[in-house]
Amino acid sequence: MNSASTTTMSGRNDAAVVGVKPMSPWLGAEITGVDASQPIDAERFAAIRRAWLEHLVIVLRKQTLDEDQQVRFAEGFGPLIKGRNVGPPYSPTNNTVLYISNVLENGELIGAHPDGEMEFHTDQAHQEKPSAATMLYAIDVPKKGGETLFVNAYHAYETLPAELKARIDGRRAINAYDHNDGDRRGNFLREGIPRATHPMVRTHRETGRKVLYVNRLMTAAIEGMDPKESDDILMTLFAHLERPEFVYAHSWRAGDLVLWDNRCTLHARNDFDASERRLLRRIAMAGETPL
Ligand SMILES: [Fe+2]
Repeated sequence: MNSASTTTMSGRNDAAVVGVKPMSPWLGAEITGVDASQPIDAERFAAIRRAWLEHLVIVLRKQTLDEDQQVRFAEGFGPLIKGRNVGPPYSPTNNTVLYISNVLENGELIGAHPDGEMEFHTDQAHQEKPSAATMLYAIDVPKKGGETLFVNAYHAYETLPAELKARIDGRRAINAYDHNDGDRRGNFLREGIPRATHPMVRTHRETGRKVLYVNRLMTAAIEGMDPKESDDILMTLFAHLERPEFVYAHSWRAGDLVLWDNRCTLHARNDFDASERRLLRRIAMAGETPL
């Protein structure tokens, strides 16, 4: 490795290869000067990846991407999750590509999560190996509403009162979710609902930092704790995570390409006018068992 690339690998010269503009004090950065439809050399890709690990959510504006180009860019961030089949809500030709949409074709929805609000969650927290990251590309978006809200779960952990940190230290929580029940917290511990238990405080493997890993949509109970005490603690943690002053609300424009880290962020969706067309293309990267 020559000295120039060593300097770049340390992160000091990243500004020379991509632009990084923070979008809020807590998380989110716009990456400029990158056309994600084209192959990206290793040095620039590494700079994008470092910006993502530092800012948790990255946004590339004004992108023009077909499915294959988005897949190629996404593969740089890790192995992709495959759906069971091709066909709605997945692409007709590629089961790593899922559409989020309220659009009907021949009377059938072409995508998943068509409309309405979604409570704060991290993708696949109800599975043994939740996805590490999710990428969304906006094709059609409503004129207003439908924002994706993001919060920084490192910051949430770091700002917890010491007494609360001590109460959840070493504890595990049961995460359960049934898509057919809608996107609000419900009676998730019924028989047969998909679930997984995870540490309430997990450590991000790449950054080594601790994260508060519970969410309002999916975290049903603290394992081995009296239900009333468990609910009291969880409600306090959800309110702490979701404090409005710590939220970055992403207002979508067509052409936005957004990548977030599911290991250290939560997200939610605001409601929007269901009569307006909304179509986003989603690709998710595989993750590991949270530790
Ligand atoms: Fe989600």
